Amino acid sequence: MKALLTGIAGQDGSYLAELLLSEGYSVSGIIRRNSTPEHQESRIHHLEDQLDLHYGDVTDLGSLCQIIQKTEPDLIFNLAAQSHVRISFDVPSFTHNVNAVGAFNVFEAVRLVCPSVRIYQASSSEMFGTSIDSDGFQREKTKMLPSSPYGIAKLAAYHMARTYRDSYGLFISNGILFNHESPRRGSNFVTTKVIKGALRIKMGVTNFLDLGNLDSYRDWGHSRDYVRAMNMILRHSTPDDFVVATGETHSIRELCDLVFTSLGLSWEEHVRFDSRLLRPKEVPRLRGDSTKIRESIGWKPTYSFEALINEMINFWTEKIDKD
Ligand code: NAP
Ligand code: GDD
Repeated sequence: MKALLTGIAGQDGSYLAELLLSEGYSVSGIIRRNSTPEHQESRIHHLEDQLDLHYGDVTDLGSLCQIIQKTEPDLIFNLAAQSHVRISFDVPSFTHNVNAVGAFNVFEAVRLVCPSVRIYQASSSEMFGTSIDSDGFQREKTKMLPSSPYGIAKLAAYHMARTYRDSYGLFISNGILFNHESPRRGSNFVTTKVIKGALRIKMGVTNFLDLGNLDSYRDWGHSRDYVRAMNMILRHSTPDDFVVATGETHSIRELCDLVFTSLGLSWEEHVRFDSRLLRPKEVPRLRGDSTKIRESIGWKPTYSFEALINEMINFWTEKIDKD
């Protein structure tokens, strides 16, 4: 089996590439041209001689058609995105172009070049925005009311995936994934920011960590568990849409408390509120009901919230010691 990953150098792309290689897949990936390739490929450096990498861009339909023709994949995982929600308010058109039009291009390239390929589309819990069912959960049937340019672009791609599935019979599945983190999570997402900030305070480099909204709640899982779900979704007999989540939710305050307490610190003494870090509009509460994927495919998460955060703390502690 051959798999092609857009966004292979990102957090999920790197774990998914490891998983697919371990299962005997040939793995190809698309990377963008970057002026410092050693930084860009840092998450997949250890896999370099096992991967077949191609320069391309999801906003460039021609490059996608060429790469698909060359690599002849059985499965395509479309993970490429401008994935930062707050930054999507700074660059809304760019975000739409990559996250929505980029996905349309992947679907269209498959329709034109190899319509039997199975496609995974990286959809997001951010598509729910402010909408919550009366029991406090979001699930596949929850109304989608996105609150950011990122969420709107992801919702456009989600609907286009469903449209290509229904109109052309393509095998396209949406994974509606809630937040997932890991030691490979980018430093400007809140989990890594809090952990690296607390470690700098512990080492005496600084005394404060500035954060925005402390009252939002997120359903955080581990990227390793979530890329396993992506693979299971594409192996399922029929294309469909699935929520992938832990079902637990924690506030940013609880995250700070867990991280600072683990390091023997009190977060209240070190965390400062900075209004400049607030978003123009916030998604206040995410908590996913993943009953559908658990019952129909047999996926479930293996990491608890505490185990995830401990693994990230240990990773950054060792890395800072080494550096
Ligand atoms: P990530 O670490 O930001 O990785 C995104 C990858 O996409 C990067 O390798 C990036 O390359 C690449 N990319 C960006 N623009 C591109 C373009 N125009 N053409 C080709 N590649 C491009 O994100 P992640 O956490 O792995 O997430 C993977 C996917 O799942 C994303 O689509 C994200 O929106 C979605 N998702 C993530 C979560 C989560 O909590 N992590 C939850 C739900 C959905 P550069 O490194 O060159 O920028
Ligand atoms: N990044 C960041 N930085 N977030 C902060 C900060 C800060 O200084 N202070 C508070 N927060 C709050 C945000 O306002 C948000 O409510 C929460 O922390 C989580 O922010 P992020 O870690 O940036 O993630 P996100 O929930 O906005 O988006 C992630 O999850 C989505 C799925 O729900 C991303 O991975 C998206 O790509 C993904 O689709």
